[in-house]
Amino acid sequence: MAKHALVTGGAGLIGSHVTDLLVREGWKVRVLDNLEPNTHKRGKPDWINESAEFIEGDLRDRDTITAALDKVDVVFHEAAYGSYMPEVAKFVHVNSLGTAQMLEVIRENNLPIKKIIVASSQAVYSEGAGECPEHGLVFPSVRPIEQMRKGDWEVHCPICGASSGENRSGSLQWHCVTRARTDRANRSLIHTLA
Ligand SMILES: NC(=O)c1ccc[n+]([C@@H]2O[C@H](COP(=O)([O-])OP(=O)(O)OC[C@H]3O[C@@H](n4cnc5c(N)ncnc54)[C@H](O)[C@@H]3O)[C@@H](O)[C@H]2O)c1
Repeated sequence: MAKHALVTGGAGLIGSHVTDLLVREGWKVRVLDNLEPNTHKRGKPDWINESAEFIEGDLRDRDTITAALDKVDVVFHEAAYGSYMPEVAKFVHVNSLGTAQMLEVIRENNLPIKKIIVASSQAVYSEGAGECPEHGLVFPSVRPIEQMRKGDWEVHCPICGASSGENRSGSLQWHCVTRARTDRANRSLIHTLA
């Protein structure tokens, strides 16, 4: 029997790809997304998989999230309000309270959810501009596929190869920025560090 997934934020970058993959793998998928206007400036995007059930609604609405969780086996929680947005309170409200309330609804209703996959952070892989103690501000490109195939997940200084992993011992300080905005962010970073 097909497994049922709820993909919160399924209209977004990661959620829509997760949805596509699940549909391809034969899952029944429900998407919950409020089409946050700051993210979807042109309204509902046409990349939302048509085979998925789409609920337009806010994760923070208790009735909405309760309905979205109905008969779901696995939750892929990708709904989020971007940290680059100016509304800090909304960021906390959507990302923290919204997530906490979803967990509360699951517990209160004793829902038979088997697994909840919560988005990680790009901060864990440190891509973006970095500061190498030897070479100062450096701009490593995205990690090559070949490197990752070898199980090396670190970002390296493009000049000496020092790795971002050394961060933990204090020798490298990487400043993580969203890849798509790297150039712009790097420019402002240069001014900040100057
Ligand atoms: N994109 C990346 O490179 C990246 C890297 C690491 C981690 N992440 C994390 O993955 C998650 C998803 O990222 P993304 O890039 O797909 O973001 P995104 O902004 O493209 O998608 C988020 C989706 O959530 C929806 N949303 C926002 N508020 C909502 C609410 N209150 N109720 C319901 N839906 C709501 C938006 O409409 C949007 O479609 C985030 O937690 C992000 O921090 C992203």
